[in-house]
Amino acid sequence: QAAELASVKVNAENQVEALKIQGEAKQLAFSASLLASGSGYTGPFNTDITLIFRNVVTNIGNAYNPNTGLFTAPVRGVYHFDFHIHGHGSTNPTSAVLVKNGEQIFTSWTHQPAGAQKASNGVSLLLEIGDVVFLRMRANSRIYDNTDNHTTFSGHLLFTM
Ligand SMILES: *[C@@H]1O[C@H](CO)[C@@H](O)[C@H](O)[C@H]1NC(C)=O
Repeated sequence: QAAELASVKVNAENQVEALKIQGEAKQLAFSASLLASGSGYTGPFNTDITLIFRNVVTNIGNAYNPNTGLFTAPVRGVYHFDFHIHGHGSTNPTSAVLVKNGEQIFTSWTHQPAGAQKASNGVSLLLEIGDVVFLRMRANSRIYDNTDNHTTFSGHLLFTM
């Protein structure tokens, strides 16, 4: 009987641990702006690049990696992302595309001859564990940011599924 009781207790403890891990994984939110410091343009380049948002303001759960620019889903659920891309009118558009794994999901794009401009978009996505979301700047595009943090990328877990 004592052995049975001990095993029930271990099982209960394991369940509590598992619930704790799930609970922690349910709290996911990040926001970052493009530049770690200073000001300047990113691009134009003659190929697509992954935008790496280095100035991390919030990164609860650490699912966003500021060294690679990749957000990796640690739990299955519905996530919301938004992005705001700032630039100046020129021959180059100001744009970025949200990519899930290899697939382009939503674009922000603007192209004025002069002045300041901003392109934004947002999306809710069902992600499986390990799915990767990031922003891609298309070839020939040019993006600006400075210490006012105009160019930003944010993501939040809305609910698990
Ligand atoms: C931009 O972000 C940095 C670091 O998070 C912060 O110190 C600074 O106040 C922000 N700038 C503005 C204008 O909010």
